[in-house]
Amino acid sequence: MLREMTLSFIGSGNMAEAMIRGLTGRQLIPPHNIVAAGPRRIRGRELEQRYHVRWTQENQEAAKQADILVLSVKPQVLPQVLVGIKPVLKSDVLVISIVAGVRISTLVSGTGTEQVVRAMPNTPGQVGKGMTVWTATKSVPPARHTQANAVLGALGEEIFVDGEEYLDMATALSGTGPAYVFLFIEAMIDAGVHMGFSRHIAERLVLQTIDGSVAVAREAKRHPAELRNQVTSPGGTAAEALYQLEKGGLRTIVSRAIWAAYQKSKLLGDLGEKESQEQGYS
Ligand SMILES: NC(=O)c1ccc[n+]([C@@H]2O[C@H](COP(=O)([O-])OP(=O)(O)OC[C@H]3O[C@@H](n4cnc5c(N)ncnc54)[C@H](OP(=O)(O)O)[C@@H]3O)[C@@H](O)[C@H]2O)c1
Repeated sequence: MLREMTLSFIGSGNMAEAMIRGLTGRQLIPPHNIVAAGPRRIRGRELEQRYHVRWTQENQEAAKQADILVLSVKPQVLPQVLVGIKPVLKSDVLVISIVAGVRISTLVSGTGTEQVVRAMPNTPGQVGKGMTVWTATKSVPPARHTQANAVLGALGEEIFVDGEEYLDMATALSGTGPAYVFLFIEAMIDAGVHMGFSRHIAERLVLQTIDGSVAVAREAKRHPAELRNQVTSPGGTAAEALYQLEKGGLRTIVSRAIWAAYQKSKLLGDLGEKESQEQGYS
């Protein structure tokens, strides 16, 4: 469904490259139908050589050809980018934004198009193991949904939500989630080193344990508490460790941390919207 399309990326950084890799790797779109734009020629060469896509230093050049336009710049440069590309966009372009915290209303007025998808990916998307949560305006027809699905699926799993409010929740849970998991991984490795393992061995033990536990959780399709009970013998080591984790308030602190990230996401969205209204493009 993407074969006849021109897919343009404004911003050719890590996430854009991950999407390009996924799309070309799965042969969902011919590489020459992809146009990437960005300020650095050397980066452009890299993308041309690695994926055989087209590259331009001019955002307008990429934007005017786009049937599907992916906005993949950092939030702080988006306002100037939108001002530059708005006049040249096709009237029926589908705009997909992965820019964190930028609301649909800002994207609609900033691009002058009603067909807008807003998505929240996460960093594992860079290795094709991402979780992307996305929503769309009512003007996006089913055929365009399917295309957005394919583009975002290039990062790993994707899930459509029928309401923009879920994007702030997703930001706190899956978007920011890798930060929590990496902290937990780091803490476990440090505990291994504390006991006397070399860091290298501790790392292997921890990563494979987490990988294996996730695989079991996916396959067993049972409540995590049941799986945890399976490794908790009466008076055993797991019971001892879990007692300490509960005593330290692990559940409460995780819940508070994610709630705080959710509130922060909403606040940043409000501030961004206010700013864009003040600058007159929303
Ligand atoms: N990374 C994630 O896991 C993640 C998760 C959720 C959401 N996001 C969102 O995804 C977006 C991209 O993130 P990223 O990690 O891919 O960032 P990134 O690697 O920094 O990519 C941004 C790209 O935009 C380019 N750029 C800068 N100014 C530009 C301009 N005026 N016109 C066109 N391109 C310009 C940059 O070029 P230079 O390198 O030359 O400056 C860079 O290649 C961000 O908005 C972020 O909020 C990312």
